[in-house]
Amino acid sequence: VKKFSRKFEDGGVNLDILDSIDALRAARSAMTGRIGLVTTMGALHAGHIALVDEARRDNDAVIVTIFINPTQFAANEDLSKYPRDLPGDLEMLRAAGVDLVFTPTPEMMYSPGFQTWVEVTEVSQGLEGAHRPGHFKGVTTIVAKLFNLTQPRVAYFGQKDAQQVAVIKQMVRDLNFPLDIAVMPTLREADGLAMSSRNVYLSPQQRAGASVISHALSAASDAYAAGERAPFALRQAMLNVLLTEALAEPDYMSVADAATLRELDAATNNPLLLSMAVKFGATRLLDNMLLPAALNTREGLTRVLGG
Ligand code: PAF
Repeated sequence: VKKFSRKFEDGGVNLDILDSIDALRAARSAMTGRIGLVTTMGALHAGHIALVDEARRDNDAVIVTIFINPTQFAANEDLSKYPRDLPGDLEMLRAAGVDLVFTPTPEMMYSPGFQTWVEVTEVSQGLEGAHRPGHFKGVTTIVAKLFNLTQPRVAYFGQKDAQQVAVIKQMVRDLNFPLDIAVMPTLREADGLAMSSRNVYLSPQQRAGASVISHALSAASDAYAAGERAPFALRQAMLNVLLTEALAEPDYMSVADAATLRELDAATNNPLLLSMAVKFGATRLLDNMLLPAALNTREGLTRVLGG
């Protein structure tokens, strides 16, 4: 194992960094107790560390994976421009008390002749799935592989990628993975912008304007709290706010059933998922909120999103 690993030692905190499948398997088989898993594509921020902190609270040990998964990027999306900062990521994970980090290469995860894919067929169709063909097939395939390799008791995901959560929960149910999914609320900057690795791409003007996204969600949430249930009215409340920011180009805005992610035409008392993708120049930002707003907690998100 040591052949493939580097070890930080600082004040009693050790972090094994494993960059081969054999090393990971050997290290995992030596681990006992409950394992919490946080899968990432790196460029870590406080939102990822909140997942790690929760995983540490619940489990005996925490594994983090850092892998920019090429198969979840569509042909028109620039994989090579995805932000990368491995030294910074490792330092954050060491400080957060992670036990093991797995940093494979694309060649390891997709060896020559690779031909097995995991695809969730329905809940992956709308929203992001409609705008990013093949994206969720790449996500479910890599997450299934990472679950097999790390064998966690609980895997932690962030609310910001709400449809990803629904798709992965469906995969876990359908393929009987022996683990639980926990969903943590989105962490926000002081002005409400959801934390995201992609925020670094924003110019100062775009960054200032991007807070309009969370304000749009709040407007719909306020309307809902005042008794509004008509999906078109909730969509309109979001649009009215987005239109106040000239740099914001909405890609989609959705009011969907939080369990099925089906777009709604008629009012319902079922929990709702408000979500949107908004472009600022070439940067596409996502955000969402469950309604009633009291559901935006670990317990509510984990129970309601994706059924
Ligand atoms: O959410 C992400 O960072 C990625 O989609 C994931 C789950 C790590 C799979 O590559």
